[in-house]
Amino acid sequence: MTRLITEWVNVTGDISIIARESGEVWFHTASAAKQDNDPFAAPMTGAGAESTTVRLLDGAINLGFAAIEQNLARPVPTIPGYILALIGAYHTSVDTPRNLRRAAKRFEDLGRPEVAAYLEERAREETGHDRLALKDLRALGVPAERLVANLMPEGIAPLCKRFDDLCVRDYPIGSIGYSYCLERIAALKQESDIERVQAICPEGVDTTRFLRSHSALGSEVSHVEETIKFVASLPADDRISVVRETYESALIMAQGYNHELLKSDAEIIRELEQAIGEPLPHLYNPLRNEKPGDQPAAA
Ligand SMILES: [Fe+2]
Ligand SMILES: [Fe+2]
Repeated sequence: MTRLITEWVNVTGDISIIARESGEVWFHTASAAKQDNDPFAAPMTGAGAESTTVRLLDGAINLGFAAIEQNLARPVPTIPGYILALIGAYHTSVDTPRNLRRAAKRFEDLGRPEVAAYLEERAREETGHDRLALKDLRALGVPAERLVANLMPEGIAPLCKRFDDLCVRDYPIGSIGYSYCLERIAALKQESDIERVQAICPEGVDTTRFLRSHSALGSEVSHVEETIKFVASLPADDRISVVRETYESALIMAQGYNHELLKSDAEIIRELEQAIGEPLPHLYNPLRNEKPGDQPAAA
């Protein structure tokens, strides 16, 4: 009889995530375990399996987001909020191919061609995604290039920095954990989420290219599946590092996204106008059934 695989990773000082091939996953608190009899006290050393690796990765995301669960922002979409989200989307994707290639080169030098090949492939897949966000911004009738050049949303900056830092490390395996976290969260977005955004946007104008491709409807699902498969094939030390970084990235992401989502429309419009140094073009108002570029009706 083959033994079922168990994988575990200590993600914070006290908490480990444990996943069994039989389908169980749980958080294990070291201080609550009998010290001399804790089977998860030492790092795992065995082979991974897709079914257990995915539970560790998703457990790490859940744990990271649990920190803000009490005051998680869930605002209804508005045009200013969506513009700001697209600016954030641009920043989190514009350097991704370059960063991934940098990490790939390092693994090539380290004699790990399989990791380099995986990262190269991801770099190819992510190429051009920043342009999707720019096209969506243009479709909304705002000066896309000026906005992204002059505005880095406060909650997004730490995320971009994290990825930059991870990719230039001597051993940049954490870049996979960061990417997994970002893509897994994007892949949770459903058709109904996209429809809610489309409903506030001008009719007949495509403003959701980025959102669609970074949702359950787009390529993100296959990116997530490929990553799970790849991470499960890595040696135990690497899987541990990837899961830990998934947790660290989830913490930063939860704080950062929430910071942006908690802003009022008035605050966002102020930020956007400051970035372009002039009032925004009249923003589409779905209640009046206008198109971008239409002048506001006289009051
Ligand atoms: Fe992407
Ligand atoms: Fe992706």
